[in-house]
Amino acid sequence: MSAPHVVVFDSAESLCQAAARHLVDLVKTSPPTTTTTTGKHDGRWSIALSGGSTPKRLYTILREQHPDVATGRIEYFFGDVRMVPDDSPDSNFKMASESLLHVVDPVHVHAINTKQPAAAAAAEFEQTLRSRLAADAEGTPQFDLVLLGVGPDGHTASLFPGTPASQERERLVVTCMPNPGITPMVERVTITSRVIQAARHVLVLATGADKHWVLRGIVDDTPPAKVPVSRLVRDCAGAVTLMVDKAMTEGPKG
Ligand code: 6PG
Repeated sequence: MSAPHVVVFDSAESLCQAAARHLVDLVKTSPPTTTTTTGKHDGRWSIALSGGSTPKRLYTILREQHPDVATGRIEYFFGDVRMVPDDSPDSNFKMASESLLHVVDPVHVHAINTKQPAAAAAAEFEQTLRSRLAADAEGTPQFDLVLLGVGPDGHTASLFPGTPASQERERLVVTCMPNPGITPMVERVTITSRVIQAARHVLVLATGADKHWVLRGIVDDTPPAKVPVSRLVRDCAGAVTLMVDKAMTEGPKG
């Protein structure tokens, strides 16, 4: 288990530029270990994408500034989706498609099927992970990299504090509803902590003073009164990098 490596940036933009370089360097300098049971991803890294505004900027930078890696070296999956139509403004698939995936051969994009009921979508995506990713010693499909954002309530992916999904340790992909106050209030499908903690690399991108308590909850050994779900990254088998902005380290002013 590795403690997160925390890197602080002056702005969200400099954070996303560095996150893109970090991801590209990983892809270019170390071979993927996740090969499909039906053969290799022709050397591609299996990456689970996150929703959120911070990852969205990263995707645009990858497309614009690192097109060779973005189109030729990555097998794309999703860490979580909102169960809305793919053309909905709330869709993580729409966000990723518009910022990056529209330039990627669809054969290398493994989306969660939001056209079916959430339970069926979760079961189907679990099979996708089992069939396309190599498994670790515990039989857990292993991403080369899982990309995560962090919500101000301490959630990551769609694992919300106090929900059964955030406690799930057996299943790989589950359905869930956000806690009251989280938007959009729609059903979600998400990978579980079992999958996140099995990944070779985890890259967490988070900004904003309102998430200061979450940073403390992840970095400090003694969690705050409310333990953020995102603290799960403290128990990952792989390397965890937490990229945050100065505002998140300083917390709310006054
Ligand atoms: C989602 C995301 C979620 C997101 C965080 C952070 O579907 O909403 O998967 O986990 O990453 O809410 O979002 P921001 O980067 O916009 O703060």
